[in-house]
Amino acid sequence: MITKNSTTQINSLNRGNMKTLVVLSHPDLESSIANKTIIEHIKKTVPTSQLEVRHLESLYPDYKIDIEKEQAALLNAGILIFQHPLYWYATPSILKKYLDDVMTWGFAYGTGGDKLKGKQFLQSITLGGSKESFTPLGYNRFSVEDILKPMQQSVYHMQMIYNLPLYSYRNAYVPEIYNSMWEVKETAIAHAKKLIEKIQDFSKGNQEKVEAFIHKWFSHFDRLDENGYFIQYLHKDVEFTFPGYGKMKGHPEFNEWYRSIKEKLEAPTKHEVQNLIIEETERNQFDIRFQVQFKAREKESQKEIDVVETENWKLIWDENSDRPIIEKYIVTI
Ligand SMILES: Cc1cc2nc3c(=O)[nH]c(=O)nc-3n(C[C@H](O)[C@H](O)[C@H](O)COP(=O)(O)O)c2cc1C
Repeated sequence: MITKNSTTQINSLNRGNMKTLVVLSHPDLESSIANKTIIEHIKKTVPTSQLEVRHLESLYPDYKIDIEKEQAALLNAGILIFQHPLYWYATPSILKKYLDDVMTWGFAYGTGGDKLKGKQFLQSITLGGSKESFTPLGYNRFSVEDILKPMQQSVYHMQMIYNLPLYSYRNAYVPEIYNSMWEVKETAIAHAKKLIEKIQDFSKGNQEKVEAFIHKWFSHFDRLDENGYFIQYLHKDVEFTFPGYGKMKGHPEFNEWYRSIKEKLEAPTKHEVQNLIIEETERNQFDIRFQVQFKAREKESQKEIDVVETENWKLIWDENSDRPIIEKYIVTI
């Protein structure tokens, strides 16, 4: 059994920088139902210290964007959200101008232009059309994802982390003709809830996922689970050292070591993780240090084992598969 303890420290490059910047674009927010409702919900839910909403049309009614101010707001955030209605299969015009003016060479791309690298990006859009309309036989022909490809590529070019867009259909309200105000509000509230979940997910970062993984790993270990469970999280050239076994490398040697452990020990064993330090040295690369109080009983001799081990891991979080891969696993007494 694993005991979570109070001494966990999580350090990361991005820590403290998981503030959310919502760049909101809507030329007539007063008359808006969908975007206004979404923004109201976000403001009610996300703590003020963690959120900045910048409504471009209010800030720049003359369309003269203060580039320095906008870039400062971007630098101060770890999560960037573009919130807007779909206008002519794109963003409202000032948001396009924001891209042109603010995302400059040396800032967002080009030489030295890595200031947005590693930040989470999410485009959150309200659409007038229905789901069926965004299909090959519908009047909008293309899928929303197809229509948003230029933004997707822009985000890649700026080295941000692209997340699948969040969008909802049938947000337009034309009294007596299309939708009721109530329906549009309901849709917007559901949209806002999904957006808030996304923001909360981003804010957690991968450190918490790494911590949860470490505890899960040892709970499987304590059951002396099948080796396949462990192998799936080990790099094929994983380097590892265990007390009494010396240096080993790769899956076959891990399997051999684990087979001998299973032969020797009674299940369950007990690993109690203490003083856990998870350091994100580069994006998605973690140095992990902790102690483990390891208790077990040997099958043959019935001898009790009770030792404190020091563990040093190097782990990467693979973004494609959204799971951890251990590269180095050093255990010493
Ligand atoms: C200028 C303009 C262009 C629009 N273009 C599209 C479009 O290309 N596709 C679409 O589904 N809806 C389009 N719409 C509908 C809006 O996306 C919809 O009214 C909006 O998302 C509702 O949000 P709101 O209540 O915050 O204004 C357009 C609306 C306007 C005013």
